[in-house]
Amino acid sequence: MKIVMLGAPGAGKGTQAKMIAAKYQVPHISSGDIFRTNIKNGTELGKKAKEYMDQGLLVPDELTVDLVIDRVSWDDCKNGYILDGFPRTIPQAEALDAALKKAGSGLDFAINVDVPDENIVTRMSGRRACTGCGATYHIVYNPSKTGDVCEVCGDKLILRDDDKPETVQKRLSVYHDQTQPLIEYYDGQNILKTVDGTQDMNDVFAAIVTILEA
Ligand code: AP5
Ligand code: MG
Ligand code: ZN
Repeated sequence: MKIVMLGAPGAGKGTQAKMIAAKYQVPHISSGDIFRTNIKNGTELGKKAKEYMDQGLLVPDELTVDLVIDRVSWDDCKNGYILDGFPRTIPQAEALDAALKKAGSGLDFAINVDVPDENIVTRMSGRRACTGCGATYHIVYNPSKTGDVCEVCGDKLILRDDDKPETVQKRLSVYHDQTQPLIEYYDGQNILKTVDGTQDMNDVFAAIVTILEA
């Protein structure tokens, strides 16, 4: 099962991708998480990526495409994977399609988690992310049972640098310009499925499971 998650920043791609990955035992691959790990570890890639991320801009395709295409060739991806945050531009989607075609396969589903812009800013300002394992919480909708540390690994929870309201606005406009066209792209391949992302996260997940098991 090879799945791409689509949706605006804060739509719940990461939340749902983690739930799908746990249920179907396939890796959750988030380009944003890969960049954040690199930033935390102070790598060259991390330094370059941070300049763009902090402004709400996309990291250039040259720094992104080979990284993710290499990742999906790892052994743990044999039975599928969930891509979260990649592809994010038409050239990224074309590069992924070309690599999959070369390997004799293709994507099964592109799941669009649909949430209107009005809901996004509140979600982002309440999000807390774990600095250790990348787990995501929300102070109202999904609080950590252990307060300001992660339930999973015990590390500190923080507000992401790019979750400030001004940066969220920029990310939304970048999303509409550069990423939203992928909805039509995957619809053209007949693999697009849209779910209402404004529902409770368990209801969103149930809708996705229904699609995957239809
Ligand atoms: P990335 O990390 O991918 O961020 P994003 O797309 O902006 O998405 P988010 O992670 O912010 O949101 P999400 O949809 O995962 O929502 P979540 O589940 O956390 O990318 C960050 C940056 O890296 C980019 O801006 C770019 O610079 C760079 N980058 C990454 N990939 C790239 C690429 N391919 N090309 C170029 N640049 C790239 O949920 C959000 C909050 O809402 C949480 O608090 C959650 O608990 C809560 N929530 C979730 N679902 C619900 C629900 N149903 N009801 C209520 N609350 C909910
Ligand atoms: Mg995410
Ligand atoms: Zn953690």
